[in-house]
Amino acid sequence: MLEVENLEVSYGALAALHGVSLAVRPGEIVALVGPNGAGKSTLLKTIAGLLAPRAGVIRWEGKPLSGEPSQRIVERGVALVPEGRRLFAAMTVRENLELGAFPQRAQKGRRRQIERVYSLFPRLFEREGQLAGSLSGGEQQMLALGRALMGLPQLLLLDEPSLGLAPKVVESIFAILAELHREGMSLLIVEQNVQAALNLVRRAYILEGGKIVGEGEGHRLLQDDHVRAAYLGPLARGTSA
Ligand SMILES: Nc1ncnc2c1ncn2[C@@H]1O[C@H](COP(=O)(O)OP(=O)(O)O)[C@@H](O)[C@H]1O
Ligand SMILES: [Mg+2]
Repeated sequence: MLEVENLEVSYGALAALHGVSLAVRPGEIVALVGPNGAGKSTLLKTIAGLLAPRAGVIRWEGKPLSGEPSQRIVERGVALVPEGRRLFAAMTVRENLELGAFPQRAQKGRRRQIERVYSLFPRLFEREGQLAGSLSGGEQQMLALGRALMGLPQLLLLDEPSLGLAPKVVESIFAILAELHREGMSLLIVEQNVQAALNLVRRAYILEGGKIVGEGEGHRLLQDDHVRAAYLGPLARGTSA
């Protein structure tokens, strides 16, 4: 279980998170939605140990996670798929996947795990010798997700997995996330595609201006007036009339 309590994070004098609290229970799939600049990426980066909080606590499986180096956080089973994917462009698909198996507990089962990633993403198998930089956007997102899975995470943090992708590709990525959830993985997903995210998850949080301003079941939030007005556009609002 992931617990975040009263988290405060700043960039110099600029406060980005003002006392954020949230939880992801074992095996739960949770969405975090909110406008640009709300602090969503900041929150995921802080959980992953890439930013240090000014105040607050992050606990994973009952023990503090804040203050640990990012490598150690991956070792403890928490993996981030960052926005913009951060692949090694000049390395092949297979080499990128192999690098994802750096956590100690992932090294022994590396071959089996590559097969597993290829079975989830047959496209990656077809392109295993191709350079990551030459993949399409959707394939790069699949590779970034596959690389995180190579580390055998128990909690996957995803920063805008659908960004810039065609609807069909988004659908297939979300189907994989649902499958990982069915297999018992915990997921925290940051999304701008609010409709798709709220349909995927059981529970979601809304982050605005560095504060959690709402929380609830995905399907309920889809009916919420503020959510509809702020995130779902006039078309969605029209359907409720
Ligand atoms: N590296 C940085 N240096 C200074 N300010 C930053 C940096 N990254 C993000 N910010 C600021 O922090 C706030 C939250 O950003 P971010 O977490 O990226 O939001 P989101 O992911 O919700 O769009 C914004 O005001 C943004 O401008
Ligand atoms: Mg962001």
